[in-house]
Amino acid sequence: MSRKKTRKRKRLSILVVHGPNLNLLGKREPQIYGKVSLDRINKLIRDESEKKNIRVTIKQSNHEGELVDLVGNARNQYDGILINPAAFTHTSVALRDALSACGIPAVEVHLSNIYGREEFRRQSLTAAVCVGQVSGFGEQSYLLGLNGLANAIQKAHL
Ligand code: DQA
Repeated sequence: MSRKKTRKRKRLSILVVHGPNLNLLGKREPQIYGKVSLDRINKLIRDESEKKNIRVTIKQSNHEGELVDLVGNARNQYDGILINPAAFTHTSVALRDALSACGIPAVEVHLSNIYGREEFRRQSLTAAVCVGQVSGFGEQSYLLGLNGLANAIQKAHL
């Protein structure tokens, strides 16, 4: 009888980072961001990651330096970063440099389609140093981004 060789996949560990003002989701401009709260989004992320056997740690900060520290210290603790840099997407060279230097893959997500909004939102300083970007699918952007990131990490480890 032939015994099938099964290689056990390491459980992935992903850091989820929410940028400024995302703590206000649900109350903040619902016509743009919907009525979904950050707690609800985090529950969706946790449920999806449980299904996929991914360990997630979720952080939110309104402070650029804190986000830079979170990304900069992620290297030895996580396999990848799922990030909604929010307004810092369009302004922060420091966050871009942190993502570029962190040594692990990141995926950028946005609830709204930033390319269909004001001119200043159509440029992302951070997307170019990420594996990819998901923009415009509301809370689903996070789940699509999570799955894309997990696939990219697994491919890189093959
Ligand atoms: C956002 C888009 C950004 O332009 C904005 O500053 C945000 C939220 C989004 O998820 O659609 O705060 O990142």
